[in-house]
Amino acid sequence: MTDRDNTYRIDIVDTVTVTASPDKTLLESLESHKIDVQYHCREGFCGACRTTLLEGDVEYTTDPLAFMDDDEILPCCCKPTNHLKIKLGF
Ligand code: FES
Repeated sequence: MTDRDNTYRIDIVDTVTVTASPDKTLLESLESHKIDVQYHCREGFCGACRTTLLEGDVEYTTDPLAFMDDDEILPCCCKPTNHLKIKLGF
């Protein structure tokens, strides 16, 4: 369920909590808050944006082709479907 302003809360471990729109990719939402996320292809095949998902769920806008562990997501091609807790990989 979104917050009252139709956004999801994204808790980034050891940094800040921001909001994300369900209409944008997670990468776009993080960038809109000036959060530095590594990326390259922005299409789900290079794996450069790989991020640890600690809580919550996402849905993919395209089938991710990059290798991911079970606890990882690709912010460039997914959107939050509820509040998330993530750990950025740098
Ligand atoms: S930027 Fe390439 S998989 Fe996300």
